[in-house]
Amino acid sequence: MAATPAQVNRVGVAELSIPCDMLVFGGTGDLALHKLLPALYHLHRDGRLHPDMRILALARSKHSRAAFQVLAERHCRAQVARADFDSETWQGFAARLDYFAMDAGHSADFGRLSKHLGHVDERVRLYYLATAPDLFEDIASHLKISGLAGPKARIVLEKPIGHSLASAQAINAAIGAVFDETRVFRIDHYLGKETVQNLMALRFANALFEPIWRAGHIDHIQISVCETLGVENRGAYYDHAGAMRDMVQNHLLQLLCLVAMEAPVRFDAEAVRNEKVKILEALKPITGLDVRDKTVRGQYAAGKIGGQDVPAYYFEKNVDNDSDTETFVAIQAEIDNWRWAGVPFYLRTGKRLAKKSSEILIQFKPVPHRLFGDSEANRLLIRLQPEERISLQLMAKNPGKGMRLEPVELDLNLADAFNKQRRWDAYERLLLDVIEGDSTLFMRRDEVEAAWQWIDPIIQGWHQHYQSPRPYPAGSNGPEQLQRLLERHGRQWME
Ligand code: BG6
Repeated sequence: MAATPAQVNRVGVAELSIPCDMLVFGGTGDLALHKLLPALYHLHRDGRLHPDMRILALARSKHSRAAFQVLAERHCRAQVARADFDSETWQGFAARLDYFAMDAGHSADFGRLSKHLGHVDERVRLYYLATAPDLFEDIASHLKISGLAGPKARIVLEKPIGHSLASAQAINAAIGAVFDETRVFRIDHYLGKETVQNLMALRFANALFEPIWRAGHIDHIQISVCETLGVENRGAYYDHAGAMRDMVQNHLLQLLCLVAMEAPVRFDAEAVRNEKVKILEALKPITGLDVRDKTVRGQYAAGKIGGQDVPAYYFEKNVDNDSDTETFVAIQAEIDNWRWAGVPFYLRTGKRLAKKSSEILIQFKPVPHRLFGDSEANRLLIRLQPEERISLQLMAKNPGKGMRLEPVELDLNLADAFNKQRRWDAYERLLLDVIEGDSTLFMRRDEVEAAWQWIDPIIQGWHQHYQSPRPYPAGSNGPEQLQRLLERHGRQWME
């Protein structure tokens, strides 16, 4: 649903007929250099940006435009596949790039910014806030005061929105006082991943699974997002956030919503988000002593990953030496509604684990009557990364005499199915949606707040009951306690 009429350019791709400017606060930060600029470069290369679109990076350091272009080129070259990077395309892209040094906390700098931009009211302005969330409120109000938040302006907020329910509400209120909800894009890059969108296709474009997608047939669901990376250069941010705020509050709960929600009546922003909110509101609160039984908190100790020694979390740059921030979380969640009553959703995420993989496992119940002796229950595995696959484990007869059964897999590799087309990075898809004004894959205000509403008591429970993170060696599968979360119910994590 493009908000503005589209036209078709020479490569046959629909593009906006109105030029826009994207202004990136935090324009020299990790996110801008590693994700946003490479994604914009790809969109430019594919002819998906209006020829007149400009990109303005905003940050405190004093760079000239040329120096910023050099910095941007270095990062884009490193992030973009060699075959997709060539000098001519880069020159064309670099011509869109500009830099403006300012302090987002200083109102006077917004006056200077306004002068720099000039009065080009017909242009759509997209403000991308790739900064710490504590700057969001100030930036929104400074934009308003300096007349930069006109009716065509949109704002993009990076997660996490706030640090708790109260701070998220304050941010949402401050943003809402300047931009109406249709112009606010709260980004969760997991929603831009092809396989995550495929979850909706799998569920709502195939009649096959619907009758069994419920408590009567499903034993439990596992949602795992495991990383081998540590905190890299983000220690200062991460030590205040931890895995719960950095990953669970947003990415994992969004995945849970897509797995558990009812079919929306239409594929549009309101209908999809209405269904997701219902799931978040139906999450059974985990409070008080329950946090001990239903959650596991961990922090990586020194270990080895890919044969390399890696230091303990508390020795990472900009992390407190006695930090008790978690780098690993596992939770047994439950959804109190008709479809899911009694089905546990086990969530886990962590840094410095043995391998990088994001997957969703739907474990079905066993057959009601075992004709052939031992038989494993069916399972559907949806692998989001590194490969995008969907596999259904079925029981089949081993050839030869007798009925000896074994599990076999029906395996669909989505990259192969679509002729190995280049897979878009999540940010490419989401940035294009912002440009086109489509917020279906962005979080609505009530969604973010409902997620915090469930997360806050767990964090409080950890502090009230002194549940400090359990150490786990880097390169392992997480703390020992992780297994107990499932084993006490006779289940096992899928490794
Ligand atoms: C980000 C988190 O949102 O997601 C990072 O802030 C994390 O800590 C990253 O590493 C994981 O994203 P992906 O796409 O690599 O799974």
